[in-house]
Amino acid sequence: MDISYYKTVFFSLLLCSLVPVALYFKSGEPSSAGKAEQKTVYYFEKVPGPIQPIPRKMDIDSRWVNLGKALFISPILSKNNTTSCSSCHLIDFGGDDGFPVSIGINNAKGERNSPTVLNSSLSFRQFWDGRASTLSDQISGPVHNPVELGSSWAEIIEKLRNDSYFNESFRALDPMGVTVENIVKAITTFEESLITPDAPIDRFLLGDKTALTEQQQRGLNLFMNHGCTTCHQGTNIGGNMYQKLGRVSEIPELLDEDLGRYHVTREDQDKYVFKVPSLRNVAQTGPYFHNGAVDTLPQAVRIMGKSQLGRELPEDEIEDIVALLHAFSSPVIKVQ
Ligand code: HEC
Ligand code: HEC
Repeated sequence: MDISYYKTVFFSLLLCSLVPVALYFKSGEPSSAGKAEQKTVYYFEKVPGPIQPIPRKMDIDSRWVNLGKALFISPILSKNNTTSCSSCHLIDFGGDDGFPVSIGINNAKGERNSPTVLNSSLSFRQFWDGRASTLSDQISGPVHNPVELGSSWAEIIEKLRNDSYFNESFRALDPMGVTVENIVKAITTFEESLITPDAPIDRFLLGDKTALTEQQQRGLNLFMNHGCTTCHQGTNIGGNMYQKLGRVSEIPELLDEDLGRYHVTREDQDKYVFKVPSLRNVAQTGPYFHNGAVDTLPQAVRIMGKSQLGRELPEDEIEDIVALLHAFSSPVIKVQ
């Protein structure tokens, strides 16, 4: 067998492997309706230390973001057309509602404090007790919860199909139009767009040493040296593990009714275990803790020092840490 045989085989194989590549490029810029799916991609930047900056850049499908936003602020999602996701998650005001516990349709009172939806795509689980694994799993919670939107998918789908704006907007993105999957996809993509990079802490971590005041830098050292970062860490400064409230000493009385993850697992060791909340934008998300029983940050930090670290933090240290917590805030990134 001479060398030309191998050459032929080699070039035929090369040709075969090039055909799909050529076809891919030939398809060019996809048309608007059939545009290729774009999964949200975040560009993380790694720095040394326990706290990581929020990505400054992402690829996201802005058409689904816009549809998701329209759904998020629409009262159509509630049984009596009075309440929307944004009633309890005000995007421009920290992503929560400012009440101790949330108020849903017919003024029904919930049992837990509304957490922020900002940066929630960066947390490892959703809800205070982590009962939803992903943002997509989370959505059917508020839709059906009688003290939140109190509705059902069947009702919502019918109302959205009868609404010309929504009916057409869904069809423009997917020939299947209004479906549960598409509603969930739109809201989830909108939530994925709600990240808040460029907070003073991020600029500091990325090298701008003037981004934090001297007091905030003292606060950062205390936050790390006291061990707040054993729980509040990573990109969301929290949101990446479960921990027991009151690990070190007794749980303060005002926080001892809700058994947290125990409601999900029924395991004794999960009593009073919660997802460590993200401290991103925490200065805007009071009142604090799972039941909103604590009004101010100094009180919240004092309780954390005692119940999580077993320390009475001196007032000047509390002030420095609170100053640092204010450096965790930033507005939501703009999506083009
Ligand atoms: C009546 C108020 C209310 C409405 C309406 C509401 N939520 Fe919430 N949301 C809450 C409360 C309270 C929690 C926390 C519940 C818990 O942890 O048990 C929560 C939790 C969440 C979380 C988890 C965040 C985290 O950090 O754990 C997300 C995401 C979320 N809601 C998105 C939505 C979306 C999307 C809608 C609309 C489909 C919606 N919410 C409607 C009050 C509300
Ligand atoms: C052992 C883990 C652990 C440590 C250490 C810890 N925390 Fe927490 N932190 C939690 C958990 C869990 C919660 C939620 C508790 C709840 O709501 O019942 C929380 C809640 C908070 C909240 C309220 C957030 C909100 O949105 O309501 C603040 C503020 C806070 N922590 C600050 C701190 C500071 C400052 C330190 C260090 C002095 C600290 N934490 C140390 C686990 C910890």
